[in-house]
Formats: sequence, structure tokens, C-alpha cells
Amino acid sequence: MRKNIVAGNWKMNLKRDEGLNLVNDVINLLPSDNEVEVVFAPSFIYLYKVNKMCLNLDRVSTASQNISKEESGAFTGEVSAEMIRSINVKYAIIGHSERREYFKETNEDLKQKVDVLLKNNLEVIFCCGESLNQREEKVHFDCIKNQISESLFHLSSNDFSKIVIAYEPIWAIGTGVTASSDQAEEIHKFIREIIAQKYGRELANNISILYGGSCKPTNAREIFSKDNIDGGLIGGASLNAESFIEIIKSF
Ligand code: 13P
Repeated sequence: MRKNIVAGNWKMNLKRDEGLNLVNDVINLLPSDNEVEVVFAPSFIYLYKVNKMCLNLDRVSTASQNISKEESGAFTGEVSAEMIRSINVKYAIIGHSERREYFKETNEDLKQKVDVLLKNNLEVIFCCGESLNQREEKVHFDCIKNQISESLFHLSSNDFSKIVIAYEPIWAIGTGVTASSDQAEEIHKFIREIIAQKYGRELANNISILYGGSCKPTNAREIFSKDNIDGGLIGGASLNAESFIEIIKSF
């Protein structure tokens, strides 16, 4: 079901105590009537501990920042879907632009990752988004459509309903330049439309679509007020309890 989600992607930041203190502080500051699902995506080595801190809380969960496309075996340094499932993590983020760019992940790799995640009953936060060049060349709609269709459109309706999409324009990530709320809404509406064409309007209306890219306390309220924006995938501003909480309270 469509829900509002604010997820903090810590990327490769925070030492152990900094991370655990941040989680503690966020949990303590959460409003008692919180309607938003809050997700922490720490590095793998803190995931077990952070997940344990969240297990008995309503609407607070965790995500891995990545996952292997392989199920198990001789893949040194990789972490499998089965492993994170075995510690009761709920979500995995896949397809982040940093993974696509620096680790050369393709739409086909992500298709395999989606399958292995769903097979292990994990929910998927699937990132997509265009580069500045692609936007300037006006191929951003095609880029996003290809990313989604090539990695996700082989899924059954039932499986697709377990996907959360995160639209993250690369030019807005970590740059301080945010997509305007109208620019973000235009893409979110487009994403919902292509899902509706493939799976029907009802399913499309039930998918949560998050925005990511320099989302901060000062712009979150405006961004989240748009019809097709169901929350945020937050990088820098999720590393500080006060700013993360302000974003969570922006609904
Ligand atoms: P920033 O919020 O730091 O721009 O990062 C966004 C992001 O990449 C979240 O996954």
C-alpha cells in the first residue's frame, strides 16, 4: 500500500558510535503520532545493530544500501539478500546512481538483484534518475523509463506492488541543487503513468515514489506537498538527528 516514507541513506559515513547515537536520537525525537515510515540505511557492518534498535518500534525499519545479485557462494566481500533477510531487515536499496556510476551496475544487474530480493521476501527501494547531460539533451524521460522497464517490468503485479521507487536526479545529489518541486512532481507523475500503462491505474496509485537529491528541512515541506511525491531518500541531511527529524515532520 502507498505510504509516506523518509529513508536516510548514510552512504559511507559515520563511525559506529556516531551512527548508533544518531539512531537513538532520532528515535527519541520521533513524534508520538508519527504517520511516516522512517527507514535507516547504515553501512552493512552496523545494520544488524541498528535493526535491533528498531525492531519493536512502529513504523521504523532498516534497509541495506546494496545487495549482491548472486544468491550465495564464492563472491568474496559480497552480502546476500538471504543474509540480510536472516537478520530481519525489511528493505534493500538498489540502483543508487553511485552504484550505477562507480561500480558500473547495469539495468540487467538490477533486474537480477530485484529477483533475488523478492525471492527472499525483502522489499525493494529502487533508485532511478538522469544525469545533467541527459536532462540537457532532453532524454531524461527515456532514461528513467528504460531504467524502470528494463529492471522491473518483468515482475508480476503482485511482485511489483512490493517495490518503492526513488527518483534521484544525479545533478541534485550532494550538490545542494534541488530539483524544484514542480520538476520532481513532473517526473513522479511520469513514473506513475508508465507503471499505470504496464500494471493498471490501481496498482500505480498504490506505489510509493520518493524524491532524493539535496532534500533538506528547508525544502522538504514544499517537495512532499506534491500529489505524486510520497517521501524522500535523504543523504547528507539524514546524518544529523535534528535535520532528519525536521524532514520527517515535513508531512
Ligand atoms: P543528498 O541528500 O546528500 O543529496 O543525497 C541524496 C541521495 O543520494 C540519497 O540516496
